Amino acid sequence: MAIAISRRGNVEPFHAMDILAEANRLRAGGASVISMAVGQPSDPAPLVVREAARRALDDGRIGYTDSLGMRPLREAIARHYADHYDVQVSAERVAITTGSSAGFNLAFMAMFDPGDRIGIAVPGYPAYRNIMAALGLEVVEIRSSDAPYLTAEMIAQEHNRAPLKGILFASPANPTGASIPANELERVVNTARELGIAVISDEIYHRLNFAGTDNTALAFGDDITVINSFSKYYCMTGWRIGWMVLPEPLVRPIERIQQSLYISAPELSQIAAIEAFEATQELELVKSRYAANRELLGEGLPKLGFPLAAPMDGAFYAYCDVSRLTNDSMEFARRMLVEAGVAATPGRDFDPENGHRYMRFSYAGSTDEMREAIMRVSNWLNAR
Ligand SMILES: Cc1ncc(COP(=O)(O)O)c(C=O)c1O
Repeated sequence: MAIAISRRGNVEPFHAMDILAEANRLRAGGASVISMAVGQPSDPAPLVVREAARRALDDGRIGYTDSLGMRPLREAIARHYADHYDVQVSAERVAITTGSSAGFNLAFMAMFDPGDRIGIAVPGYPAYRNIMAALGLEVVEIRSSDAPYLTAEMIAQEHNRAPLKGILFASPANPTGASIPANELERVVNTARELGIAVISDEIYHRLNFAGTDNTALAFGDDITVINSFSKYYCMTGWRIGWMVLPEPLVRPIERIQQSLYISAPELSQIAAIEAFEATQELELVKSRYAANRELLGEGLPKLGFPLAAPMDGAFYAYCDVSRLTNDSMEFARRMLVEAGVAATPGRDFDPENGHRYMRFSYAGSTDEMREAIMRVSNWLNAR
C-alpha cells in the first residue's frame, strides 16, 4: 500500500511549539518555568460565559447550528460594532467560525484561487503564510522598513512589481503589537480599493489597544473582510470561536464552504459567546493587568539588553531585538528556558529571514510572573 503525502502539507512547523514542549517537559520534572511563549490569556473565560455554557450543558442537547452561526450570536456581534465602533453592520454579514483560524481558511478559499499573490506584513503571524502556502496561494511577504506596519505606499509599490490579489494585516499585530493609525488604515483601504486589491483585516487583538482606540477597517467600507475572535480579549482560546464580517457578495460562498468544511462552529461555544459582550467589567480588569505588565516590560526589557523592535501599542507582546546577545534566537530561547526558567518565542516563526535576531515575549501572565521573569533573566545574563 502506498502512503500519500502531499507537497501542500509541507509547511513550516511552529518552532514556538518546540519551546513549549520543552517548557512542559521541564515543568513535569519539577522545574519552575515562567511561560511568556504562548499567545494566550492566562485567565479563564468570563464568569457569565462559563455560566451560560453550564446552563446549556444542563439543558442537554448540543448540536449543529446554521452554518453561518446562531442568529442571537450574529446579532450580538452586529450590536458590538454599533456599540464599540459606531459602525453599522447587519447580522446577515456576520459568519461565526471555529476560531479566527477557520475564518482564514474560509476567507482564503472563498476569495482567492491558487497562484494568486497575497501580501502580508513581515514579521507576522505564521499561520497566514502556512495556510496560504497549503492552499497554493503565493505569499508575498512585505517587510516594513519605514513603519512597523503595512502602509499604502508599500502596498502600491509591491502591486507595481506584480499585481496583488489581496492583502492581509493585523492591527494590533502579532508579534510586534504595532497598530496601524486610523488615517493610515484609511489610506491602506482606499489604495487597495483603487488598485483592485481585496482587503482582509485581522482584528483579533482589538480591545487590547493601549496606545489609542480601536479602528475597524469596516469604518472605511463594507467591501472589506474582517476576521475576529473571542480568543484574546475575551479569554476564550480553547472555546475555538470567532467571527467574520463579510462583504455581502461573500456571504453565500462562505456559507457554502463552511457547510462542507466545518458544518458549523461548536454550538456550546456559540451559546456561551453571546454573553461575552456582557463581561466588559471583568475583562477590563484583565486588560488593566496587561497594561501594568506592558509598563514593566517596556521599561525592563530594554534595560536587560532587549530593545523593543516595535512600539507595543496593543495585543500582549513585546518583540525584541536580541542581536546584541545572540545571532541565534532559537538556541538563545532554549538556553534561557533551561538555565533561567523563562520561556519566550524565538522570532523565526514570525520572520523566516531575520527572526534569528528577535524574540517575542508574551505578557498575558500575572504581574508577579513578569517581575520574576525580569529578575531571572537579569541574573542569568549577569552570570553568563
Ligand atoms: C494575529 C492572530 N490572528 C489569529 C490568531 C488565531 O486565533 P484563534 O484561531 O484562536 O481565533 C492568532 C493566535 O495567536 C493571532 O495571533
